[in-house]
Amino acid sequence: MPTPHINAPDGAFAPAVLMPGDPKRAERIAQMLMPDCEKVSDVRGIGGFTGEYEGKPLSVMASGMGQPSLSIYATELFTQYGVKRIIRVGTCGGISPKVKVGDVVVGLGAHTDSSINTRLVPGVHLAATASWELAEAAVTRAREKELPYHVGPIISRDRFYGNDPKDTERLAELGTLGVEMEGAALYMLAAQHGAQALTVLTVSDHLLDSSQDMSPEDRETRFTGALELAVAAAHC
Ligand code: HPA
Repeated sequence: MPTPHINAPDGAFAPAVLMPGDPKRAERIAQMLMPDCEKVSDVRGIGGFTGEYEGKPLSVMASGMGQPSLSIYATELFTQYGVKRIIRVGTCGGISPKVKVGDVVVGLGAHTDSSINTRLVPGVHLAATASWELAEAAVTRAREKELPYHVGPIISRDRFYGNDPKDTERLAELGTLGVEMEGAALYMLAAQHGAQALTVLTVSDHLLDSSQDMSPEDRETRFTGALELAVAAAHC
């Protein structure tokens, strides 16, 4: 049944959903992977697409930006549409000196400066963690394709602007690979609903090394590499 934010009929989504932030990118991913896909939802310009990739059902739907937006779509997909896996595909800012622009980051866990996960068990700082099964499938594909990848913690921040660079340096010292804005909420929602989640990110810029940059063409090619990892996780 349609929900407040998804106007698709029951059964319109595949068990696995790829979830970029940007609705235009969601449409491009869907058309690239599944030329015969169907648009199943279009509330607020957030298109949902379902088709088959290599003979298996797959859906693509954007999250919008930030944890509150992603939480709305992920909750409705898990609770109303029987979705079992959400794989976020997006970009992150590099933090760790090991990470270079264009590399792929698999977020095994997600720190957050948001309070979004704090009320579930009062007094407990829950570990927002990816599904190991999905992470393993993504990493196996990265090795097969010889793509530069990193696996480890990311941080899901509430603010894009206005963060203290000293905090970013401290996060780097603690082994944090990159910064984005959605992963921690996604991981906790998957835990709450007995589902699986993963975040696969292309490093689009480096917060502590602005000499690194990536052309728009590189951005698209590298993004395709990350997408291969995400599809491997979706169908493992
Ligand atoms: N924060 C900072 N830089 C970034 C981000 C972010 O969320 N995503 C891509 N580059």
